[in-house]
Amino acid sequence: MTVLVTGGAGFIGANFIFYWLNAHPGDRMVCLDRLTYAGNLSTLRPVLERPEFRFVKADICDRETLDRLFEEEHPEAVVNFAAESHVDRSIEDPEVFLRTNVMGTAALLDACRKYGTPRFHQVSTDEVYGDLPLDRPELRFTETTNLHASSPYSASKASADLLTLAYCRTYGFPGTISRCSNNYGPCQFPEKLIPLMIANALQNKPLPVYGTGKNVRDWLYVEDHCRAIDLILRKGRIGEVYNIGGDCELENIALVRRICRELGKPESLITYVADRKGHDLRYAIDSGKLRHELGWRPETGFEEGIRNTIRWYLENRDWWVEIISGEYRDYYEKMYGNR
Ligand code: NAD
Ligand code: TYD
Repeated sequence: MTVLVTGGAGFIGANFIFYWLNAHPGDRMVCLDRLTYAGNLSTLRPVLERPEFRFVKADICDRETLDRLFEEEHPEAVVNFAAESHVDRSIEDPEVFLRTNVMGTAALLDACRKYGTPRFHQVSTDEVYGDLPLDRPELRFTETTNLHASSPYSASKASADLLTLAYCRTYGFPGTISRCSNNYGPCQFPEKLIPLMIANALQNKPLPVYGTGKNVRDWLYVEDHCRAIDLILRKGRIGEVYNIGGDCELENIALVRRICRELGKPESLITYVADRKGHDLRYAIDSGKLRHELGWRPETGFEEGIRNTIRWYLENRDWWVEIISGEYRDYYEKMYGNR
């Protein structure tokens, strides 16, 4: 079958392409990506020359290009990873988040309807549920938790979810949604917590922890996320939302200390900086529905996952050094210069 993956030059999309080509030999994969600051064609180097793979540089908001591509490829499934994905950037400039995450998803939904695509999967986030208090460890997000987005990023993702569900209900559209917790692993852009801390520690630069460092995130190794999407795409029920979580809650400060230990770097590099505006306190996912209905569970524990990740950044220094020497430098100066 032919699978169209949008945003496949980014972190999770690229890992999904590698995963899928390995798990489903014989399938064709088409990757559509605008190559924003977060998209890197070099990430896809291992598959670019493979005959079953095609890369198209385009914007998911560009309806004419989508029409042409759907006419050429007739994908049997579309998985939408394409998004503006960084909360801090959404706080600085929300508009592009609305454009890509809401209008872009709408354009894809319409293309799938127009060409009768049998399956569409929207990759969403646990951040659509807002946050949980730090002193109620028994609380977790389920699929029926109210949407209560805190940041422009999560509000735009929640909007895309609502639109997808509305298409399912109104048009009998064959869509599914997954809401996953924080991912980590190879090829993550170094503006996100784990790769930023690894890259800074390796350069003996300060490790900027927002606020108290007590905020909690639920970490999942990226390959486990890819496997969950594969299952939902093939066996999930249409019109349904599935939560995906790692059952691995960690305070940011504990995670940063852990990275220091793994790299043999002193904790004196840790610097507390001004908190993020509207900073979500805690995310915790109940993925019971996915476990019981589809038999999924995370296979990579945090010990193994963080070591694999650190090893990848050590072995692929050129990849991230090139990124942090480009326009990222201006971003870093703006966000952290006077914090
Ligand atoms: P990323 O920022 O690393 O990659 C996003 C990709 O989308 C990039 O390759 C970028 O070039 C592309 N893109 C952006 N705008 C586009 C447009 N208008 N048209 C076409 N391509 C465009 O993001 P990621 O971390 O890989 O996240 C992928 C998806 O997973 C997102 O939808 C995100 O909301 C969701 N998600 C991420 C996490 C996480 O921890 N990273 C957790 C849960 C859900
Ligand atoms: P991030 O990787 O941006 O993911 P998200 O905000 O989508 O969960 O941040 C993860 C956590 O780490 C979040 O609580 C904010 C915090 N953080 C820092 O303390 N310092 C940093 O430099 C960054 C990027 C994040």
